Parts: sequence; structure tokens; C-alpha cells
Amino acid sequence: MTLSKTRQEKHKERHAAQKEIPILKETGRPKRSTKSAAGIPHAVFVKGIRGSDSILGQPLPQIAFVGRSNVGKSSTINALLGVHNIARTSRTPGKTQEINFFLVNDNTFFVDLPGYGYAKVPVKDAEQIRKHILWYLAGGEAHPKLIVLIIDARHGATADDRELMSIAGKEGHPLLVLINKIDKLSGNERTKCLREFTETYPTTEFIPFSATAKEGVTAVRKRLLGTTTGQ
Ligand code: GTP
Ligand code: MG
Repeated sequence: MTLSKTRQEKHKERHAAQKEIPILKETGRPKRSTKSAAGIPHAVFVKGIRGSDSILGQPLPQIAFVGRSNVGKSSTINALLGVHNIARTSRTPGKTQEINFFLVNDNTFFVDLPGYGYAKVPVKDAEQIRKHILWYLAGGEAHPKLIVLIIDARHGATADDRELMSIAGKEGHPLLVLINKIDKLSGNERTKCLREFTETYPTTEFIPFSATAKEGVTAVRKRLLGTTTGQ
């Protein structure tokens, strides 16, 4: 007989515990979830919303991932959760249309927002997405504990990113910037990019990151969830 619990026992226990979480009682059995593994946060996809919803009233902190379309918001969520596709990613910008909620470690929501600033999205749709993001950040219904703004290391903060930083500031939302796709830069470009960011935004907390090369994953997990181990 072994003293440690088998994977199956742990899975059963988790499933039973999740049934007791009110939001999962309401939404039923999660459609997508990650497998438990040492040091890697566990997550279930709860639901996507397009406006007022009871999930906003849940007494759990929300960490919102925002940024330009195609910058890697969904890829970042997947990297932090140690999987490829709990958050849907795409080469086609504009893939994430709804505000998607993932329950992480049964105690925190990761919130994947639609991306802004993609030139080829029709003006009407872009305006709708903009309104949607503003509603989440500044409409008074959601109360994010932290905004994770993802920017592209090759382009730096765009005008839209700067506007978002300003909205987060006005609303009093703490901000963490991930400088994503850092794998695409050479050593010199990387040094220049990080130096410029520090000079332009001396008080903004940032972490160089790569969702595909997994750079910064452990540091960001620790910052967001206090989890220190695992990749
Ligand atoms: P929308 O939902 O459309 O706003 O996009 P998103 O910000 O969620 O981007 P997504 O995660 O879907 O990634 C877009 C593309 O960028 C995909 O082809 C990813 O593989 C790629 N990508 C994301 N992160 C990185 C990274 O760190 N490095 C590289 N090289 N590619 C990345
Ligand atoms: Mg996305």
C-alpha cells in the first residue's frame, strides 16, 4: 500500500471540490480543463461573456490579460497554465471575441480579453471591441485585481497600449506589463528594447516574456499566483 494518493484519487477529490464552487455549480461541468501537475496551476474554462454576467459578482480575484490583437494574450495564458490550448489561439487576429473566464487553482480568475488595434477588423467591429474592453476596465461592474498588459517586444507600447495604461491608472487598477515575443529579438535588440521601456515608463512594472519559448513563465506565475515551481 502506498501512502501518497494516486492520480485518480486526486482527480476525484478535485472534481468533488469543484462541484462545491458556486460558479461551477451554476455553469455545470467545465468543458475544458488542465490536468494537475506538480507546481503548475490547475485551470478550468468557465465561460465567455459579452456583457453583464453573474460571474462578475463572484468573490474571487480577477487577473485580466489585455493587449493588441495577435500580441499573444491567449498564448500567454496557456503558457502560464502549462498547456497549449485551454485559451484558443490563432494566427488570425481577432480570434478572441468574448471575455473568457478561466478559474485557476480554484481561487483566481484569469480573464482573456479581446484584442484591439488590428487594422483589418472593420471599423464597426473594432468600435464594438473597444467598447467591450472599456466596459470591463472602467464600467464599474468588474473589479480586476491586476491588469496584465501584453505588448510586442518588436513594436513597444503603441498608442492604444498607452491609452490602456492610462485607463488602468485612472481606474486605480494595478498594472503589470509583459514584453512578449522577446524570442524574436537579437541580444542587442533585446537590451535596447528593455532600456527604452525603462526610460519611457520608469514606474511601470514589467517582465520580459516569451509565451512560445517559455521565457519568464516561472517569474510571472510567481507574481500572479505565488506559485514558484514548474514550467
Ligand atoms: P487575439 O485573441 O486575436 O487578440 O490574439 P492573442 O493576443 O490572444 O494572440 P494569440 O495568443 O492567439 O497569438 C497570436 C500568434 O502569436 C500565434 O501565432 C502565436 O503562436 C504567436 N505568439 C504568441 N506569443 C508568442 C511569443 O512569445 N513568441 C512568438 N514567436 N510567437 C508568439
Ligand atoms: Mg486571444
